Amino acid sequence: MIRSFVRRSGRITLAQQRALDTLWPQYGVTADGILNFTELFGRNVPTYLEIGFGNGEALLAMAQRHPEFNYLGIEVHSPGVGHLLLQLSAQQLLNIRISDVDAVLVLQHHLPPHSLAGIHIFFPDPWPKPRHHKRRLIQPAVVKLLATVIQINGYLHLATDWPDYAQQMLQILDTTPEFINHSGPGYFTPRPPQRPLTKFERRGHRLGHQVWDLVYRRLEI
Ligand SMILES: C[S@@+](CC[C@H](N)C(=O)[O-])C[C@H]1O[C@@H](n2cnc3c(N)ncnc32)[C@H](O)[C@@H]1O
Repeated sequence: MIRSFVRRSGRITLAQQRALDTLWPQYGVTADGILNFTELFGRNVPTYLEIGFGNGEALLAMAQRHPEFNYLGIEVHSPGVGHLLLQLSAQQLLNIRISDVDAVLVLQHHLPPHSLAGIHIFFPDPWPKPRHHKRRLIQPAVVKLLATVIQINGYLHLATDWPDYAQQMLQILDTTPEFINHSGPGYFTPRPPQRPLTKFERRGHRLGHQVWDLVYRRLEI
């Protein structure tokens, strides 16, 4: 499957690099086979996944709000991972683990079937040029993979500020039999208050961007 990202070396601060070097053993996931969440988090409670967490602002806010749940975040951009690690150690949060591997590979090879209470994908890269649309993360094959790892009655929550990507998400998900649209076919969902407002979204608001949320429940089929 074509990758949904291009690895940019990016600018990483000294503190972020140090966090990657020293804190990865505590928070990082190095998966060879299928992950065992009970071992990974040291307890057996519902686990939520965020794909492409950027600098981790939403993941951190949710994990702080719900210390009773586990949060697994996947992000391939090292400065973002370093940024989140710094926050985690400053706040002594214990309910987050991080993978830096392509989320598609994690979905394919490392997540137990029907293991996640919910999946969050907030503002995935829009790849605006038509010739790059094939790189968009939300495509039928990936949605099928998402369906295999979400628990029955678990949910998938997406958000984007890109109009044609929002329509594409709606079309793909509404025609995937494993998912039912929380707001009814053809409808977006009003912004759920539990989705934390991030720097990315605040910037979008300043630029006058509209944001579309999509919420789906996994059916038993
Ligand atoms: C536009 S940013 C949004 C970040 C964050 N969710 C937010 O709202 O600020 C999309 C992120 O998804 C990450 N990403 C894209 N494809 C990915 C993949 N296959 N696996 C993991 N992360 C991915 C990118 O590195 C980038 O940080």
